Amino acid sequence: MNATEMKRQTVPNSGDSVQHRFAQSSEGLSSSEIRDLMSLASAPDIISFAGGMPGNELFPLDEMDRIYNNLTESEKQTALQYGPTSGIPSLLESLTGYLETKGLPVKENRLLITTGSLQAIHILARAFIDPGDRVLVENPSFIGALSAFRACQAELRAIPLRGDGMDMSLLAKELNSASPQPKFLYYAPNFHNPAGIIYSMEVKQQMIALLRGRNIPVIEDDVYSDIWFDEKDLPEMMNLKAMNPEGIDICFTGSFSKILGPGLRLGWMLVPEAIYRKCELIKQSIDACSPSLSQVLADKFIRSGEIYRYTARIREEYKNRGETMIATLEEHLPEYVTFERPRGGFYTWLQLPKGTDTTIILKRAIEKGVVFVTGKTFDPAGIQNDHMRVSFCNTDAATIRRGIPLIAQAIREIIEK
Ligand SMILES: Cc1ncc(COP(=O)(O)O)c(C=O)c1O
Repeated sequence: MNATEMKRQTVPNSGDSVQHRFAQSSEGLSSSEIRDLMSLASAPDIISFAGGMPGNELFPLDEMDRIYNNLTESEKQTALQYGPTSGIPSLLESLTGYLETKGLPVKENRLLITTGSLQAIHILARAFIDPGDRVLVENPSFIGALSAFRACQAELRAIPLRGDGMDMSLLAKELNSASPQPKFLYYAPNFHNPAGIIYSMEVKQQMIALLRGRNIPVIEDDVYSDIWFDEKDLPEMMNLKAMNPEGIDICFTGSFSKILGPGLRLGWMLVPEAIYRKCELIKQSIDACSPSLSQVLADKFIRSGEIYRYTARIREEYKNRGETMIATLEEHLPEYVTFERPRGGFYTWLQLPKGTDTTIILKRAIEKGVVFVTGKTFDPAGIQNDHMRVSFCNTDAATIRRGIPLIAQAIREIIEK
């Protein structure tokens, strides 16, 4: 018996007397060091720049009350009933209109309502990945997607991000050397989590040229694109799905989480017919349908036009927070910390001197009453730790002005000691 087998044999699972025979696919899922550290940071007065959730105070409570109170008896019955796996027809129709205003080719594809866009990513992962398959991801990348791909036992091949998107020369190298070819490429075009960047048109054109004719679908994860700060960026933010490149299957995923509320657990995928059919079967086996109550509310939110008024309102507030964050960082950070100025979304991504261990800085920051997320959380290999994600979504401007100097102090105390 080798050491690992010994451990499997003799170490009971947390508090259990029985050694469960869990599936190998669940082995990649572990509570990260960062989550354990964060549990230290639960004091009520801690300032958190760690979360990726909307501010509670920004939710459209009155509009939701009005929508619910105006539902007819039959709409309330629909809301409490199971619905079709693909989604409630009325929402599919209103969401089609909403996505068409963004130039997405809804009629030429199929829309599947999902339980958050994270479920859409999971379903696509299950549709394509066999254990050991390669998938292309960004470094850094959204941790939820990395976990979904790990759960399917994918081999993650990471392409570094630059200020305007994935490094295209490294993508070309990977595509030309990788054998067997990756099953798909996952990327987030707008206000990246955690990097904050948007992909330039040029990089997207190069991606199309590199991927055409290779039978490598793209998962385009676009949950932040409504939260832009400047209308001028909109043409640059055009989705690959809207460009509709011939010879590449683009699987677009989106969400109500950032434009209404993540508690609804409502997202969608917009995919070609053949991929849709596979994904609908997978979804059926997972949860049969997404919450009908959420779907009825979201449908009314779109049909009343409230979605447009609400996104305009929160855009202003996130812009205010983002600009306060940029100004405060520029005032307090030492010159050896650099970052791309966010043009929307929720995050700033700070680059510290090469080799810095931001976990040590996080420990110091927690002592000072402030938290952020360390870089390695978003590294597909879980190693590179000289960045930190500082979010501005869940703290108002005054709190940002109070908290950022504490992060700057923690950085100086560790690096300049
Ligand atoms: C890039 C990205 N994609 C997807 C999601 C998942 O969102 P949800 O499952 O709430 O729709 C998030 C959540 O933070 C995200 O940051």
